Amino acid sequence: MVALSIDRLELQRPSRTRPLKIAANARKEANACNSNSSPVTPSIDRRELLAGAIAGGASLASSVDSHALADPIGLPSFKHCHFPSVGDDIIRVCCPPKPKRATIDFKPDSGQMRVRPAAHLVDKDYIAKYNEAYAKMRALAPDDPRSLRQQANVHCAYCSYGYRQEGAPKQTLQIHFNWLFLPWHRWYLYFHEKILGSLIGDPSFALPFWSWDQEGGRYIPDMFRRETALCDAKRNTSHYEPTRVDLIYSPGSDDKSDEQIREDNLSIMYNNVAKVKQPDAFFGHPIRKGSGSKNGPGGVERAPHNAVHIFGGSPYQPNFEDMGNFYSAGRDPLFYSHHGNVDRMWDVWRSLGNKDFTDSDYLNTEFLFFDENQDLVRVKVKDSLNSEKMLKYKYQAMPDDKSWTAYEPKPLKQTPWSGSSYEYRLVKASAENPKALEVGVEPVTITVDQPKGSACDEILVLEGMEINMQSPISFNAFINLPEANKNTRVSCAEYVGTYSNVPHFMLGIGEHTETVNTTFSIKANVEILGLKSADKLVVTLVPRGQGTFTLKGASIQYA
Ligand code: C2O
Repeated sequence: MVALSIDRLELQRPSRTRPLKIAANARKEANACNSNSSPVTPSIDRRELLAGAIAGGASLASSVDSHALADPIGLPSFKHCHFPSVGDDIIRVCCPPKPKRATIDFKPDSGQMRVRPAAHLVDKDYIAKYNEAYAKMRALAPDDPRSLRQQANVHCAYCSYGYRQEGAPKQTLQIHFNWLFLPWHRWYLYFHEKILGSLIGDPSFALPFWSWDQEGGRYIPDMFRRETALCDAKRNTSHYEPTRVDLIYSPGSDDKSDEQIREDNLSIMYNNVAKVKQPDAFFGHPIRKGSGSKNGPGGVERAPHNAVHIFGGSPYQPNFEDMGNFYSAGRDPLFYSHHGNVDRMWDVWRSLGNKDFTDSDYLNTEFLFFDENQDLVRVKVKDSLNSEKMLKYKYQAMPDDKSWTAYEPKPLKQTPWSGSSYEYRLVKASAENPKALEVGVEPVTITVDQPKGSACDEILVLEGMEINMQSPISFNAFINLPEANKNTRVSCAEYVGTYSNVPHFMLGIGEHTETVNTTFSIKANVEILGLKSADKLVVTLVPRGQGTFTLKGASIQYA
């Protein structure tokens, strides 16, 4: 295998050529993205190198060329489900019960419209009904597929490698870290909501969403602490009101002031969700039959989504249970309310003019879920896209979405480049030196070539990141700010996004490392900072979580 190395290089600081201003037009223009364009690599060399060199090479190649169609990934191997192991000896059984009848195909929901309310706005009657639904779900026999334990196990089996793929028995199935993240969780919530509604005989019942992106949802909604069936013993109890949710939370980052979290959260939402135009960077990278299951999570998945999981899980549990580990997250009713808002982000993102993937491998990917009648239902990604029509639910309108969709980050540095030269490590491919860049607890600054080009979006790709999947790794990425450190605020134009990991195990192995690519949308930042004509960008990664990772390359692509 060809390896990559890190060389040193002298960087000429480019001079700032533009006034610091984000044009409303820039945003408009960026919105007109072609949904089917994928990042294009700047040069042939790079492309050849990547295809052959990176351990997860197939994964990057698939993000580079989304038209290299293979097939959708295979259905989960329900009959051959394995028991994901947790730690060395505790075996948690999270395979589904045996279906009683033959699998049926999903039919469009013909029931009445269900309107999902914001969790902080629901009234007493709603809370009573909601609590009753979970009380009934908790009381079902443990092998009933509608019981809360089995509902949690659905997530565990799909997320901790309980399944192989039918037709590709060597391949595990993972619905995080790739383009299946949003549609799979949409289906999961759909069936969960229908089961809750049927348990209380109310077909209009709709799950509440915890609107952590806005002021009204700044705390874990009170009902999750007060109502017996909505409570969960394994939560971070110091994160109830008056602690504001931190959308890039990582263990040990509890010292921020309320005002800092408030301001930072707007920037986090803007940078990881609102400014992202390209589907790979928003949903996650494509996966197809034969291409491995983890190619890189999209912005919405990493943060806010992953960080809110870590915020909710208990720091006193060995594996950040319940919310902070995939195998246990679904045991906490808060999970489903959190995911209501994650799902709502898909709608908000579309409302900004963005378009979904139209790739047939994506549209035809299938999953299996138990429904409210305990029937096993086969569903396709494409049937989840129009949720109002096919699934009969929608979200209460939230006027405060604008607080972050229209956010305008300001540069931290008011002075332009000084023109002096600096020396930073360059992550650069080379056959001779197999060493990847190690990122530990200290910030790391690298330079990345910025080829000339323009497109709907400009993407910074961190390639071949080897991550221990059992660590809550987290880092913030900045451009043009080599002095960035743990205390640097993210409410600035230099901040481009966050990587955050939710710990999880692998079948029979426990701890495992995976190779993923991470894409940050940086067009808006580059424009605001006046760096469009720079031939190199200085990128600083500031680790905040626990654990270390390695990085094999970095590049800038246009898509
Ligand atoms: Cu499947 Cu929020 O995780």
